Amino acid sequence: MQKKKFHIFLVNENYHLTELDKILLDFKEEFEIFFSSKIVNILKETIQEVYEPCLYSLLNGGKRIRPILFLLASEYHKELEPEKKEELLFIASAIEVLHTYTLIHDDLPAMDNDPIRRGKPSCHIKYPEWAAILAGDTLNTFAFYLLSFSKVNLKKKLEILSLSLGHKGVIAGQALDLSNEKKNFLNPTKDFRFILTIFENQKILDTFKVYLYDHKFLKLLSIHYLKTAIFFKAIMQLGFYSRFEKEIEIKDLKLFSEYGESIGLLFQISDDMLDEIGEESLVGKKLHKDQSMGKLTFPSLLGIEKTQEIALELCKISIDVAYQFSNFLYKSYLLNLPKYIIERKK
Ligand code: IPE
Ligand code: IPE
Ligand code: MG
Ligand code: MG
Ligand code: MG
Repeated sequence: MQKKKFHIFLVNENYHLTELDKILLDFKEEFEIFFSSKIVNILKETIQEVYEPCLYSLLNGGKRIRPILFLLASEYHKELEPEKKEELLFIASAIEVLHTYTLIHDDLPAMDNDPIRRGKPSCHIKYPEWAAILAGDTLNTFAFYLLSFSKVNLKKKLEILSLSLGHKGVIAGQALDLSNEKKNFLNPTKDFRFILTIFENQKILDTFKVYLYDHKFLKLLSIHYLKTAIFFKAIMQLGFYSRFEKEIEIKDLKLFSEYGESIGLLFQISDDMLDEIGEESLVGKKLHKDQSMGKLTFPSLLGIEKTQEIALELCKISIDVAYQFSNFLYKSYLLNLPKYIIERKK
């Protein structure tokens, strides 16, 4: 019963190509061209053992939601000077390269042990495990090389990306996710109240206030915030610091961060939902893995219906924030993006 209800919610049969779809496709096309020529050529300046597994994972059909979000946040557009466009495309590429590294490592046997990614054998199945580990390592450092092509606010961007992906960002999130699932770390984190001080968007915490006394919920929030939402927040901040041509208003930085947090959390919650009730051929991953591995997810802790309510709440919060963006080229797209994420089937 519950399953059916959410299914209807996710699959909108009267779905037409919206303006947002069109711009996402447009951006995706431009990004793919740059990525598959310029970036591939730079990466190929080494030996096959290094670049082949990297290229396999980079070019195997990801949605590219993160680089596209960056292009929106940085107000990328066709009339920018070629040099500026290239600078933004380098940052967008660094973002996708980092994301791909996290996926390659996330799928490894010692981590989520996932044989399928983007509908194809995962990197460590297609190539030897050592080659997949090195591909992740390569992409993690390669991304910072790509970032170095950026001229505007480079120091700030370096700080944002290294912290959000690093020791107190995505890596910490992955460590909490795995330490909770595998229960084989001698001295695991016990106090998750730190997460209450990290959120910039207080409305998110207000939405969760009835759960915040629950230790397990705080742990879940910490995992999802760190492994996924913090990256989306960083992307919005990178966009903010890359905007050209106009005086940037500093109050927008906080709004951009808040938007990244809520949309990032929404994205991970919808990923949890897809694992439970998605369609394998569309999602391109082995489904029902979270439950079988004993992962802590929103549906596993709160059930599908509550998760659906929370997702809608995060959707509203994201829209509320986007309404406050001032003088921003893609405001209407960021107003529509939450709905797009909540309805996604892959
Ligand atoms: C998967 O991200 C990992 C999560 C944080 C949920 P995506 O769903 O964006 O994966 P690709 O890049 O489209 O394959
Ligand atoms: C992955 O979360 C988050 C990162 C890779 C940082 P999941 O483990 O839920 O992602 P999928 O479901 O394998 O794509
Ligand atoms: Mg994982
Ligand atoms: Mg995984
Ligand atoms: Mg998942």
